[in-house]
Amino acid sequence: MDTRPSTDDSADQTFQAVRHAITSRKSTRAFLPRPVDPALIDELLQIAGMAPSGSNIQPWQVHVITGKARDRLSADLLAAHQENAPEEREYQYYPVKWRSPYIERRRATGWGLYGLLNIVKGDHEAMARQHGRNYEFFDAPVVMIFTMDNDMETGSWLDYGMFLQNIMVAARGCGLHTCPQAALVSYPRIVRKHLNIQDDKILVCGLSLGYEDTTNIVNQFQPSRMSLDEFVTYHRD
Ligand SMILES: Cc1cc2nc3c(=O)[nH]c(=O)nc-3n(C[C@H](O)[C@H](O)[C@H](O)COP(=O)(O)O)c2cc1C
Repeated sequence: MDTRPSTDDSADQTFQAVRHAITSRKSTRAFLPRPVDPALIDELLQIAGMAPSGSNIQPWQVHVITGKARDRLSADLLAAHQENAPEEREYQYYPVKWRSPYIERRRATGWGLYGLLNIVKGDHEAMARQHGRNYEFFDAPVVMIFTMDNDMETGSWLDYGMFLQNIMVAARGCGLHTCPQAALVSYPRIVRKHLNIQDDKILVCGLSLGYEDTTNIVNQFQPSRMSLDEFVTYHRD
């Protein structure tokens, strides 16, 4: 529903374009092999760097991985996954103790994706195979790994999220899709070795970038969102 007064055509077009960029972003889990112009990657990162950050400290650092470097990283991550190597996160992403309503949302998302792929409860092999697609970057030709100096505080994580969202939204503006991936930092030693990342950095997450494979059913997955009354409290009088 469009509730704004439509007096200014160019403002309206801008709003439609921004809305489309935001709402057409989705975690894309099948990409075409089509390469991405390196100049476009630079432009996206330049745009994303316009994100706000407290006192403009800009805590983000990005590794862009393509070509043979991408293939080598993928091979080692996939091998670790297939050998059931223990995952080692450098920070706690999820609640330590899952509870309602988050556990239900998590389950709905997991089972929604698996259901679409005809993966049934108990088929651990198929689940592991699908999880392993993370380490093939869902076939995306471009991978990013994000790091931050490890003495930054909680506020910098807030700043970081804005930077990441900017990349994903800007990517939509030029026909690209993305998948943000915490999975890409679940074997930090492998990532650190490949990208020569020192101990004074923390691995934040990764992101796959490329052109969507629209023929793959996995990309039809659309997890639902809360309605306004579930997350907004109005204070009026
Ligand atoms: C920081 C972050 C890490 C994520 N990590 C993964 C991941 O490792 N693998 C994956 O398939 N999806 C990952 N996701 C995608 C979420 O599952 C997805 O954003 C959520 O289900 C909502 O779906 P949508 O992005 O398509 O709107 C991640 C999302 C975020 C924001």
